Amino acid sequence: MQDDIQLKTPEQIARMRAAGLVVAAALDAATQAVKPGVSTADLDAIAEQVIRDAGAVPSFLGYHGYPASTCTSVNEEVVHAIPSPHRILAEGDVITIDCGAVLDGWHGDAAVTVPVGEVDPEVRRMAWVAEEAMWAGIAAAARGVRSGRGRLSDISHAVESTVDRLGRGRLGRRRYGIVTGYGGHGIGTEMHQDPHLPNHGRPGRGPRLVPGMVLAIEPMLTLGRPDTTELSDGWTVVTVDGSVAVHVEHTFALTEDGAWVLTAEDGGRHRLGELASAAARAGADAVRPGPGWRGRRTWHGLRAAD
Ligand code: MF3
Ligand code: CO
Repeated sequence: MQDDIQLKTPEQIARMRAAGLVVAAALDAATQAVKPGVSTADLDAIAEQVIRDAGAVPSFLGYHGYPASTCTSVNEEVVHAIPSPHRILAEGDVITIDCGAVLDGWHGDAAVTVPVGEVDPEVRRMAWVAEEAMWAGIAAAARGVRSGRGRLSDISHAVESTVDRLGRGRLGRRRYGIVTGYGGHGIGTEMHQDPHLPNHGRPGRGPRLVPGMVLAIEPMLTLGRPDTTELSDGWTVVTVDGSVAVHVEHTFALTEDGAWVLTAEDGGRHRLGELASAAARAGADAVRPGPGWRGRRTWHGLRAAD
């Protein structure tokens, strides 16, 4: 299995960083536009424009016939919902915007979950937990590559145990469903590569975490049961019980000294600290954040790293 994993050189990772920043900028622009009355097709058009203006190509468009540049999954939609001019956002909705771009042959892939106006506190909390779980997974990967002893399932385990720790309800029962049918993946010269990265599992298994691995991590949580089903459009995945779902994603590279979050504007420095790779720490890549970034609100109610 290790043999099927495409390892990237530092130069190739730097190119993937450029693709990742395009995705970050596209998601940021689309996020800024989220408000009641806007259609999911409007958001898709905004993201696509940013990608094309950067000289990149939307990687979702035409992928197995997928008809748009983003997936815009609202409320009970989990992933892969197709943007539509008829899907108008309303106060209280929650939307996941998932976006990918390819630049000079290298891919970036990321997703954010964004509130539309005032959102149910339970949903807000779940979105926060999903983000925490994603960062815990990235941090586990960074530790694993630094120690030289990390395995892929350490990431999965960190995601699951963070959801359990932060999402324990009455009687200690897990409050959120972890969607198991979908997960993260290797990424590089294709959007989807080996290995598959589940959002749950026991630690200490699977391929070794080594410098040059680039992964997309994408936890998906539901407020109810984790079961999902696909709609007749052949794409949209919804929760079976109609409960609200959230999904966040980043593309990150493993380097000798940690993780470099290629689709995060600051490279992950703010969230990972010492576990961020030297490139991210040095701010060697501190290139044009884009005007929108500084004010971006996160689910903590804090502002994004500035
Ligand atoms: N981030 C999504 C994933 O990794 C990509 C959407 S698939 C597409 O599954 F078909 F819409 F491109
Ligand atoms: Co992905």
